[in-house]
Amino acid sequence: MSRAMWVIGNWKQHHLPEAAMTCARTIADGVAAASAGAHRVSVGVAPPYLSLAAARTACRPVSDLWLFAQDVGAQDTGAHTGEVGPAMIAHAGCSGSIVGHSERRADYGDTDGLVRRKLHAVLSAGLHAVLCVGERLESRDAGTHESVVLTQLSLALSDLSPELVGPRLIIAYEPVWAIGTGRTATGEQAAAMHRCIRGWLGQTWATAGSDRSILYGGSVKPDNAGALVAAGDIDGFLVGGASLEAPSLLAIVRATATAPVVQAP
Ligand code: PGA
Repeated sequence: MSRAMWVIGNWKQHHLPEAAMTCARTIADGVAAASAGAHRVSVGVAPPYLSLAAARTACRPVSDLWLFAQDVGAQDTGAHTGEVGPAMIAHAGCSGSIVGHSERRADYGDTDGLVRRKLHAVLSAGLHAVLCVGERLESRDAGTHESVVLTQLSLALSDLSPELVGPRLIIAYEPVWAIGTGRTATGEQAAAMHRCIRGWLGQTWATAGSDRSILYGGSVKPDNAGALVAAGDIDGFLVGGASLEAPSLLAIVRATATAPVVQAP
């Protein structure tokens, strides 16, 4: 087992501080037992900014649970109304941030250029980044999904070297048509895209493809997580709706930790 496996819950605009604290505590209490399968799974949650402080009380270094932001500004400080930069999320106890989620790209103007600057900022600050890429349904139907995803990746990573990134860059393949729709990519579709991403990384960054964690996201549930991992080359999940209840997220962690893992070299 060479690559780190992750399950990260993206709570989006849900959970006020009290609910975030309760949910994070329940996850933290169950995480050691749920993640101790055939292979170890690291578990994280990404609450809204308002609830980071409350959730933090249940997270590392107190427990094994990692804390992430859902988005991050491209600069640390200054006249940037509404922004929260890498230094601020680190101060709030985050180990890193999601960057380039499709909801940010589609609804809040996160262009490929802005995603690149946010990614650069968060990695340069020594934090982890969960870089989201994924095609829309039209691209999948037109058969251009691989080129769309590789273009997103190459634009996001264009300023970065494997040395700067180290092990802190996690990639999440999230087909837009599977997010919040109940329509999950098949194991074959997800695994094929993960192999495509890994191959591209290998060509671009020499060894960086083989040791990079690539997660799948899009309507992951306790009852489909195991089969997705078993489809091969899927190193865990970024989970939206099914992460809002602690038992459901823990069930996904358990399914991930106990599924037979097939990792291409
Ligand atoms: P979903 O969301 O699990 O609710 O489909 C995934 C995501 O947006 O990361």
